Amino acid sequence: MSAAVTKIFVPRDSAALAVGADDVAAALQREAAQRGLAIELVRNGSRGLFWLEPLVEVATPAGRIAYGPVAPEDVPALLDAGLLAGGAHALRQGATDDIPYLARQERLTFARMGITDPLSLADYEAHQGWAGLRRALALDGAAIVQEVTQSGLRGRGGAAFPAGIKWRTVQQTAAEQKYIVCNADEGDSGTYSDRMTLEGDPFMLIEGMAIAALAVGATRGYIYIRSEYPHAIATMQEAIRRASAAGFLGASICGSGHAFELEVRKGAGSYVCGEETAMLESIEGKRGVVRAKPPLPAIEGLFGQPTVINNVITFATAPLILARGAQFYRDYGMGRSHGTLPFQLAGNIKHGGLVEKAFGLTLRELLIDFGGGSASGRPIKAVQVGGPLGAYIPASQWDVPLDYEAYAAMGAVLGHGGIVVHDDTADMAQLARYAMEFCAIESCGKCTPCRIGSTRGVEVIDRIKADQQREQQVVLLRDLCDTMLHGSLCAMGGMTPYPVLSALNHYPQDFGLAAVQEASAS
Ligand SMILES: Cc1cc2nc3c(=O)[nH]c(=O)nc-3n(C[C@H](O)[C@H](O)[C@H](O)COP(=O)(O)O)c2cc1C
Ligand code: SF4
Repeated sequence: MSAAVTKIFVPRDSAALAVGADDVAAALQREAAQRGLAIELVRNGSRGLFWLEPLVEVATPAGRIAYGPVAPEDVPALLDAGLLAGGAHALRQGATDDIPYLARQERLTFARMGITDPLSLADYEAHQGWAGLRRALALDGAAIVQEVTQSGLRGRGGAAFPAGIKWRTVQQTAAEQKYIVCNADEGDSGTYSDRMTLEGDPFMLIEGMAIAALAVGATRGYIYIRSEYPHAIATMQEAIRRASAAGFLGASICGSGHAFELEVRKGAGSYVCGEETAMLESIEGKRGVVRAKPPLPAIEGLFGQPTVINNVITFATAPLILARGAQFYRDYGMGRSHGTLPFQLAGNIKHGGLVEKAFGLTLRELLIDFGGGSASGRPIKAVQVGGPLGAYIPASQWDVPLDYEAYAAMGAVLGHGGIVVHDDTADMAQLARYAMEFCAIESCGKCTPCRIGSTRGVEVIDRIKADQQREQQVVLLRDLCDTMLHGSLCAMGGMTPYPVLSALNHYPQDFGLAAVQEASAS
């Protein structure tokens, strides 16, 4: 009689690979073979609890039990301790789903993440995969658009524009050829939810893009993935190959007669290529320079044709909305911020990782209840929300609900949900200088406020730091920020003042100014 085969999960996500997941998988296979233990090793996506990676899970009759962070040298002792039966060990974290960090989340788009084998079509299907596409195939384009509009879904790439309105514009614009373009350039500091999706649940993105294609009548799609994501590119290419072979993509999606071909394009390696029109230029084989709008890409986009451009998470939400209905999704969140956002905790934080929650929770809950405070154990001083062009949020604002409008009201943005934590050793004048320098390096050069202003901004901050006519230079810096804010062609130059001004307003002492400046400035 052969022994029962035990399923063991070791993530193949880049974050897990970076801390040795491949070596752990090899050690498990080697040690199990030596001991004559029958195991089936599944390379899943990450659950998003990065401080526990590599997180090894074992399927037991009582559910999946987690161990982490596991090093290859831990493997013999883990097997000695009865790993295959979920045995006791210092690295045992209990039932994975009961780990408070996970149990407290509201995972909608990330519901399958880390649970399935990312490239298994059977696994995807067994976990509600393709249900949204199948429903979409039974509707006409206008009805699909209506469902997405009703859900209240707003673009998750940064600008939070309603997805349904964008889709409707493309749907109602007559053209021989229309395109669907997924923005997977994900250049924001501290963000990785797009990468996790590409690597951990790629069929969800394919399904979402196919739904968009049906909605607007597009037959070709591109996924523009940043060049720094080689694992994501490889996984996505393989997923497209498998989905095409199974008839979910190609000349006739699921035998419906609707064609949709999808391909991956590797990014050009510049931050501004994430700006949608620069991305279109890049896909067309040109330099990533921002186009003036209008015309909107929804009317004249890729190769001059109507194009839906959305972020990975925006598309990845469409299957759920179609499968569960607009109201189901709309009921999450607060105000006009419907649904959930996968927040990404990074920087100086004890428990870094992905937290999907409905809009409306606070930064304090994320930083303390989920993040467990700073990794250094020192007080948290500043938290940058929304990428390198997002504002620094001081402790006095940590109780403001995470909601697009509430953040806009205090001069901040949620952006792509990236959260980077700094402790009290951070020099905010230095970080403000960094924001200007980042803009100077990444500027596409098309407009003067951004191209010249960012370089002048670095110089002005240097003079403030060196106390050369400090007070006058601060006035100049504010004036410069005002020009960039209102005169830039795109949000690259237009948002660089956010981190600069928030640093100046909330941490004036770091610029050598009296703290009283805060009240008058904010
Ligand atoms: C400098 C700059 C970089 C951007 N980078 C990204 C990016 O990496 N990914 C993304 O989805 N959107 C990015 N955006 C926003 C896109 O221009 C666009 O709004 C978005 O892709 C639209 O998709 P959504 O409506 O689903 O958010 C960037 C914008 C700017 C100004
Ligand atoms: S703001 Fe900067 S990145 Fe945007 S168009 Fe102007 S120069 Fe280019």
